[in-house]
Amino acid sequence: MPAARRKVSVLCVMMTLNIFVCVLMGLSWNLRRDKRGRHKVQIPSMRFWHQRVLSKSFWNREQQRLDFVSNPIVNSVVSGDAELPDWLNDTGPPNPCDPDYRVRTQISDYNSLPRRFQDFLLHMRCRTYPVLINQPHVCDEKPFLLLAVKSLIPHFDRRQAIRQTWGRAGVLANRTVATVFLLGNTLSVDHYPDLLGMLGHEAELHKDLLQWDYRDTFFNLTLKEVLFLEWFSQNCPHAQFILKGDDDVFVNTLRIIDLLEGLSENKAKDLFIGDVISNAGPHRDGKLKYFIPESVFVGLYPPYAGGGGYLYSGELALRLHNVSQQVVLYPIDDVYTGMCLKKLGLVPAKHSGFRTFDIEEKYRYNPCIYRSLMLVHSRTPQEMLMIWPWIVHPELDCQ
Ligand SMILES: *[C@@H]1O[C@H](CO)[C@@H](O)[C@H](O)[C@H]1NC(C)=O
Ligand SMILES: *[C@@H]1O[C@H](CO)[C@@H](O)[C@H](O)[C@H]1NC(C)=O
Ligand SMILES: *[C@@H]1O[C@H](CO)[C@@H](O)[C@H](O)[C@H]1NC(C)=O
Ligand SMILES: *[C@@H]1O[C@H](CO)[C@@H](O)[C@H](O)[C@H]1NC(C)=O
Repeated sequence: MPAARRKVSVLCVMMTLNIFVCVLMGLSWNLRRDKRGRHKVQIPSMRFWHQRVLSKSFWNREQQRLDFVSNPIVNSVVSGDAELPDWLNDTGPPNPCDPDYRVRTQISDYNSLPRRFQDFLLHMRCRTYPVLINQPHVCDEKPFLLLAVKSLIPHFDRRQAIRQTWGRAGVLANRTVATVFLLGNTLSVDHYPDLLGMLGHEAELHKDLLQWDYRDTFFNLTLKEVLFLEWFSQNCPHAQFILKGDDDVFVNTLRIIDLLEGLSENKAKDLFIGDVISNAGPHRDGKLKYFIPESVFVGLYPPYAGGGGYLYSGELALRLHNVSQQVVLYPIDDVYTGMCLKKLGLVPAKHSGFRTFDIEEKYRYNPCIYRSLMLVHSRTPQEMLMIWPWIVHPELDCQ
C-alpha cells in the first residue's frame, strides 16, 4: 500500500474509534443521572490501586519480586529497554543452585536464626536436583489412583507394611492402583550409615522408589513436593487421582476409591480434599517445630490440607506443577501447597474422613470405625497389618 493511502486508512480507523469512545461516554453519562435528572459524577473517595510497598520479610519480598516478573503485562514492557528498579533486578547467583550468600545480609537476623533456616534460605532458589532412582514405567497401566508416599531412606519396614496393606499396587475394587515412595538423600556431614546398597536392592525388587539427590530434611519437604509434581507431569500425567501422604498414615484405599467413583466430572477436575486448616499463621515461638521468624514471613496462611495426607486430581496436579513456578519455596510443605492452590483460585475442601490428628483413643481398636475413615495418622507398621484385614474382610458385620 502506498504511504499516503496507509495514512488515510489509519486516520479513518482512529476517527471511528474516537466516535465509538464518545458514544460510550455519552451513554455512561446518561446512566449516571440523579433523581432530578442531573448528572452525577462518581469519583472514588480513596486510591483504588495497591501502592507497592516492599515487605520487610524475606519470603514476602521474594514473592513480590516473582509476582512482578511473572506478570505477563509487566513482562512485555520490561523486556524492552526499560531499566528495572534495583530490588527487581536482583536475580542472585547465575546458577540458582549455588548457595545464595547474599541472604546473610538481606535478612536482618540471619546470624541468630536456627541452622535449618540458614540452610533453607541459602538454597531457596534451587528447585532442580538429579534423579537417583526413577520408575518411568510405574504408570504404564494408567492408574485410576496413584499413591505417593513421603518416606525416608531408613523406613524400610514402613514401606513394606504399606505394600502389604493399603498401598498394594495392582487392581483393587476393579481399579488400577500404582504406588511410589518419595525419597531424598543424605549428606555425609550428617553422619548417617550408608543404606544406599540396600535401597538399590529394594528399588530393584519392588520398582516403586523415587529418589532425588538432595538432603532429606523437614524444611526440604517442599522440594519433595515440587520434584514429585515435576516427575508426575513427565511420567504419570494421565493418572486420574493422587493420594499423597506420609509413611505413618493408614489409608482406607477402598473408601477412597468409592468416594472417587461417586464424583461428578466437574467435581473431579478441581478435587483437593483433606484435613483442611483455615485461618492459621506462622508460629513465633522459637522452640516449636513450625516456628517461622518475622524476618522470613509475615501474614496468614491460606487454607491448606495437613501434609499427613490429601487427595487430589491428576489434572489439578498438572496445574499445580505449572503454578508452583510462580510461588517462592516455603519451608513448610503443606502450607506451600495451600499457597499454590490459592494462586490457582482454589480452596481445599475439608473432609471429616481425613483424621491427621487421629481418632478418639477408645475407637483405636474398633474394626468398624476404620471402615468409614479415609485416612488416619499415625499408625505403626504392625498396626497397619492389623487394621487392613478389618477393612477387606466382608464377613465383619458393621452396621
Ligand atoms: C540490571 O543491573 C545490571 C547491573 O547492575 C545492569 O547492567 C542491567 O542492565 C540491569 N538490567 C535491567 C533489565 O534493568
Ligand atoms: C471393571 O472395570 C471395567 C473398566 O474399567 C469395566 O468395563 C467392568 O465392567 C468393571 N467390572 C466390574 C465387575 O465392575
Ligand atoms: C536442602 O537440600 C539441599 C541440597 O542437598 C541442601 O543444600 C540444603 O541444606 C537442604 N536444606 C535444608 C533446610 O536442609
Ligand atoms: C502449563 O503451562 C504451559 C505453558 O505456560 C501451558 O501450555 C500448559 O497448558 C499449562 N498446563 C496446565 C495443565 O495448566
